[in-house]
Amino acid sequence: MLCLFIVYSEAGQVCGVWPLPQRMVQSSEIYSLIPQLFTFGYTKDSAVQSGCSVLDAAFKRYFSIIFPDFTYKKGFSNSWFEPEPFTVSVGVKSGGCDGYPDEGSDESYSLSVSAFQAVIRAESVWGALRGLESFSQLVYQDDYDAYYVNKTEIEDFPRFPFRGLLLDTSRHYLPLNAIIKTLDAMAYNKLNVFHWHIVDDPSFPYQSFTYPDLSDKGAFHPVTHIYTQKDVKKVIAHARLRGIRVVPEFDSPGHTKSWGKGQPDVLTPCYQGDVPSGSFGPVNPILDSTFKFMTNLFEEVNSVFPDSHVHIGGDEVNFHCWDSNPNVRAFMKKKGFHKDYTRLESYYMENIMNITATLNKTAIVWQDVFDYHEKIPKNTILEIWKGVPAAYRAEMSKMTKAGHRVLLSAPWYINHISYGQDWRQAYTVQPRNFSGTDEQKQLVIGGEVCMWGEYVDATNLHPRLWPRSSAAAERLWSDEEQTTSVDQAFPRLQDFRCKLIRRGIKAEPLFVGHCKYEYNGL
Ligand SMILES: *[C@@H]1O[C@H](CO)[C@@H](O)[C@H](O)[C@H]1NC(C)=O
Repeated sequence: MLCLFIVYSEAGQVCGVWPLPQRMVQSSEIYSLIPQLFTFGYTKDSAVQSGCSVLDAAFKRYFSIIFPDFTYKKGFSNSWFEPEPFTVSVGVKSGGCDGYPDEGSDESYSLSVSAFQAVIRAESVWGALRGLESFSQLVYQDDYDAYYVNKTEIEDFPRFPFRGLLLDTSRHYLPLNAIIKTLDAMAYNKLNVFHWHIVDDPSFPYQSFTYPDLSDKGAFHPVTHIYTQKDVKKVIAHARLRGIRVVPEFDSPGHTKSWGKGQPDVLTPCYQGDVPSGSFGPVNPILDSTFKFMTNLFEEVNSVFPDSHVHIGGDEVNFHCWDSNPNVRAFMKKKGFHKDYTRLESYYMENIMNITATLNKTAIVWQDVFDYHEKIPKNTILEIWKGVPAAYRAEMSKMTKAGHRVLLSAPWYINHISYGQDWRQAYTVQPRNFSGTDEQKQLVIGGEVCMWGEYVDATNLHPRLWPRSSAAAERLWSDEEQTTSVDQAFPRLQDFRCKLIRRGIKAEPLFVGHCKYEYNGL
């Protein structure tokens, strides 16, 4: 769109693709694209051919994205070029169109745009999707709305395998289409993990088939403010077609107030003196029934969410209620925990980790679990959410030294807003800048943008997410050395934001300026 006017003098001109590809060379040779003569297809040697669910759907989708104002009624309006056909061919090395993206999916691709054709080559369909996204961003329109693409060569792969975005659907209910639209925008940003913080203190919108009371009694409304099994399937299917994993979070033992409404004994009764006060604290860790319930719930979660990972929370546990309860205190004594409630929390989390391990799921936990208990299973992934850079860097050193894989989200709490261009700070985060060996740095598998929901619902979700999350998306995908300059990123991000607007995402402005195709107010 604005591509033509944004050209850098430095080697390896950057134009048009966000996040920046690892290697991209563009030239001034341009080809015109005529929608009526434009086709997608498979290369002859491709391991997958027509009938591949992921790519067939992507071809359809990207046709509309590339030609946003095309309608079949229009004839050719382009009189400057002899109309020529243009074909985008995709070649995938190894088959598999029906599976789910997961840890270890290969997202690398190459894209070559030359006279009257583009060729995308990838190991897997997931890489082919990334290549289609890049191609779609290279296409621009002139003042007469005709479509063009420049001769381009791209070799690309992600710097980090885990590039997540968290939505919180407990503090406010997010209607299904707000989630679906977020997945669309994630794909434009090459983000690949939707971390669904689906339940928390305020509400329990997940409709469990094992424990229907949880949402019947714990949701803001038992019919309108829930995610049915059908809704969840829709989200997973929509994400899959975009190469996005869905990792659900069932956070416990804290952040579970809403659970108590539909599952009465699951929370710890708090005491005032010798009598129950009527209020409830974290999950009750001293009852066998608690772990029976959790086993059943996680078995269900395992059957509903195909991803190999599940987030089990473990953050911000308040110990006052546990300490007020005489039965808990007696249990502590029996276990020899010496009034150290972090040990009770560890005991609880160990039990939950055993449940997920039995189900063959890799657990992700918030950093608190490690802070209180360093001997947690090695394959548990730790997510860092606390602190200023000095603090989270020290934490990363410690965790990776203990051999854990880590995810960084502390600098990307995108729900926090301030006046001005706060994306700049998000952009300058250096996830591997902490003291440690090369092996330790390899244990940083990525990061997450977190959109906590205290002040966010469908009215302001998208403008708050975009393009601010795009800063983290580029940090997690692109080469660090090629993306050191925030000032060089600025016009590219402005351009990308206009593309998001053109695609129907209400991305807020970065600063003074205009888009050729403005948001139409609908
Ligand atoms: C694309 O081609 C046009 C026309 O030749 C040229 O002006 C522009 O600089 C090219 N863009 C890039 C990024 O090379």
